[in-house]
Amino acid sequence: MTVEFETLQNPLPGIPMARECPFSPPPEYKQLRKSKDWFKVTVMDGREVWLVSTYKETREILSDPRFSSDRTKEGFPFINQSQKELVKSSPAMVTVDEPLHSEIRRRATYAFTAKKVEALRSSVQQLVDGLIDNMLDKGGPVDLVTDFALVIPSTVISGILGVPPEDHTHFHELTNKIFTLTNGAEGVAAGRLGLEAYLRELILKKVDAPQEDLISKYVTEYLNTGQLTVEEVVTQVRTLLIAGHETTSSMIALGCAFLMEHPQYREQLRRGDDKTAAGAVEELLRYLTIMHRGMIRLALEDVEIDGHLIRKGEGVLCALNSANRDETVFPAPDELDFENPHRNHVAFGFGIHQCMGQGLARMEMQVAFKTLFTRMPDLRIAVPVSDVRFKTDITVYGVHSLPVTW
Ligand code: HEM
Repeated sequence: MTVEFETLQNPLPGIPMARECPFSPPPEYKQLRKSKDWFKVTVMDGREVWLVSTYKETREILSDPRFSSDRTKEGFPFINQSQKELVKSSPAMVTVDEPLHSEIRRRATYAFTAKKVEALRSSVQQLVDGLIDNMLDKGGPVDLVTDFALVIPSTVISGILGVPPEDHTHFHELTNKIFTLTNGAEGVAAGRLGLEAYLRELILKKVDAPQEDLISKYVTEYLNTGQLTVEEVVTQVRTLLIAGHETTSSMIALGCAFLMEHPQYREQLRRGDDKTAAGAVEELLRYLTIMHRGMIRLALEDVEIDGHLIRKGEGVLCALNSANRDETVFPAPDELDFENPHRNHVAFGFGIHQCMGQGLARMEMQVAFKTLFTRMPDLRIAVPVSDVRFKTDITVYGVHSLPVTW
C-alpha cells in the first residue's frame, strides 16, 4: 500500500504507527522522509514533539549537546511509562548529560572493550552449540525465544556482571514488566522495584564475598570507598543487565524469524564465511532496527536543523528505524547485502550515548545466526507467520515467542 502524504495529519496521532510488514517500519515514514515539512507526534504524556525521520538530521540531533537526554529536566517529554518510572531511581548513564554521563560510563566501559569481547567468543560458541544440541535432543517444535535467543545474551551479561545465570527468567520477567507498554503505572513500578530489590540483595552479598566480576568491581572500587551509594550501584547494574539482555535477545529472535522467512538471505549467510556473518549482522541491525520507538531528546536552546527551528523546551523524537531506511544514504534501503553491508547505520544510536555494548551484541549475533543456520539448515517457523506475536507492545521490538521446527 502506498500511503498518500496528504492523508497524514499534523500532529500525527502517536507512535509507533501500525506496520504493514512485521519486518519493516510503518509505511508513513517513507512519505515523511520525502516531505519538506516537519511533523509533530503526540507522545504518552500528551505532549507534541518533533518527529525526525531522516538520517542526517537524526545524527545531527543525537550528537548535538544542545539536545538533552536528562529526564529530570523540566518539561522532558516522556514517551512511555518506563521512562517516567525509571527516572525515580538515581541517574542512569543513558538519562544524563555531560559531564555526569562520562563519569558514569567510564566505570563500566572496560568490561566491553573489543579485546574483552573477543575473549568471550569461544565461550559464546560453546553456549550456542549446547543450546542447539538441547533443541536437537528435545525435537521440534521448540520456542526459539526461550530455548535460544533469550538464553544467549542473558547468560553472557550475567557472567560479566556476576549475576547467577539461573535467575535469568526472573530478571527477564521483571524487565518485561517495566517495558510492557500496556502495563500501567503500577505494573511498571512493580517491575522496577522488584528488579532493584533483587539487585540490591545481590550487590550486598558481594560486599561480603567479592568475586572477579563487574558488580564486585563496583563494590570494591566505588561502594566500599564511598564514591557511590548502594542505590547508585543498583541503577548502574540495572541499566547494564536490562540493556545487555533485552535488546540482543530481541534482535536474535527477530533476525532468525526474518531469515527463516527469507530463504535467499539465509542461504547467503549459510554459504558465506565469518565476514559474511558479520555483514549479515550489520544489515539485520539496520533493516530491523528494534528500537522502534525512537530516541527522545529535549532542546535546551533554540536550534535550527535543516532550516527548521526547534525551540528551547521542545521535544524531538529521532526515529532510528526510519533513518536506517533513508534512501538518500542507503541506495537500496529495503534490500540487504551481506557482502557489502552498510556499517554507518544508527541502530545503536549516535553521539555520546551510542551503545556501549555494541561490540558484545555484534559478537553474540554473529555466533548465534551463523551456527544456528549452519547446524539447522531446515529450521522453519512452525506456525503461519501471521500467528507470530510481534512485540508491538514492548519498548524494544521483536517477537514474544517463536515456535520453530526442522
Ligand atoms: C542488538 C542489541 C542492542 C541494540 C540494538 C542496542 C541499542 C542501543 C541504543 C539505540 C542506544 C542509545 C540510547 C540513547 O541514545 O538514548 C544504546 C545505549 C546503550 N546500550 Fe545498547 N543496544 C544493544 C545491546 C547492548 C548490550 C549487549 C549492552 C551491554 C550491556 C548494551 C548497553 C548499552 C548501554 C550501557 C547504553 C547507554 C550508553 C550511554 O548512555 O552512554 N546495549 N543501545
